[in-house]
Amino acid sequence: MQTKSKNVDINNIDEQILKVYADMLKNDKTVIFPTETVYGLGANALSETAVTKIYEAKGRPSDNPLIVHIAKKEHINKYVKKLNENAKKVIDAFWPGPITLVLEKKDIIPSKTSGGLNTVAIRMPSNKIANKLIDLAGVPIAAPSANISGRPSPTHAQHVYNEMNGRVDGIILSEDCTFGLESTVLDLTESTPMILRPGSITKEMLEEVVGEIKIDKSIESKDQNIKAKAPGMKYTHYSPNAEVYIVNGDGELLFSKINSLIEKDFESGMKIGVLCRAQNKSQYLKSKAEIICLGENLQEVAKNLFSSLIKCDELGLDIVYAEAFSSENEGFAIMNRLKKSAGYKIIEA
Ligand code: TXA
Ligand code: MG
Repeated sequence: MQTKSKNVDINNIDEQILKVYADMLKNDKTVIFPTETVYGLGANALSETAVTKIYEAKGRPSDNPLIVHIAKKEHINKYVKKLNENAKKVIDAFWPGPITLVLEKKDIIPSKTSGGLNTVAIRMPSNKIANKLIDLAGVPIAAPSANISGRPSPTHAQHVYNEMNGRVDGIILSEDCTFGLESTVLDLTESTPMILRPGSITKEMLEEVVGEIKIDKSIESKDQNIKAKAPGMKYTHYSPNAEVYIVNGDGELLFSKINSLIEKDFESGMKIGVLCRAQNKSQYLKSKAEIICLGENLQEVAKNLFSSLIKCDELGLDIVYAEAFSSENEGFAIMNRLKKSAGYKIIEA
């Protein structure tokens, strides 16, 4: 497939270019665009023909529902049966932004888009290119992360291009995504809201706005028998080609554990990588391993996590040791993605 790709500067948006891509979306074509979380692979959410192309481009199972992206807050009323008080509070506090609301859907949303569920996931992105594109298209845009199913979600223009060129009709390339992890998915169909996928809008932030928040049990468990309420959470995810291990520990104990693992693997001829906090960079044996800094704080780690996992493949690494993070605030979403990319393999230091 011939892919039309163009760069758009977020600080100086060329509307003429966006109009071309918006017309493609109107005509049931697929267009990748940047959002503040990860790049999205978009198509008209109201068209079964268009949505089918998303599943094909990603190689995604069709029981995994898509997020519907809108350009204006009030448009949610066109697609959900009822906006309850909690939903209104969350929208007022966090939209536009990295949180997706799950509510009972109206019939206008095709069952292909909602993966056969009677609910729909809706998000209003804050990225100006995303917002303008959806507005110009004049239709809601279904958009999963722009990766082949199972791979890390791209947050960096070159990674999107390498992964998806030839698989979609259009790609809009721009700066790195600011948050770097996919949106928080919040189920608002029950009286107590429930997080189905953790993200940059944290449990702590939501509790301040709506009070009690539940967390879907399947998020913290690798047990396949606990059914995930967000169907996408059950699939293998974020896996680079390298074998990833999380190493849990602090200070000297952590450093010496990782260094002894490096020594051992180096002996057997493996290409080794370490994913670490920027401040720990000099602690590891850089002559025997690639040291990849995730960042100095949780926001930076979230922003750089997926691009760092993709970098592990670019460097042809066989084995990667990742420092663990505490599960508070953004750490919960970071550890959720990291555990999945490691297939839940955790080494205690
Ligand atoms: O940040 C994001 O959310 C990105 C950008 C592009 O907006 N999109 C994204 O979409 O991550 P995707 O398709 O990769 O992940 C959507 C998640 C999946 O885990 C899916 O199962 C869940 O949301 N989901 C979608 N609709 C749902 C519904 N009606 N009920 C429960 N979970 C739903
Ligand atoms: Mg995804």
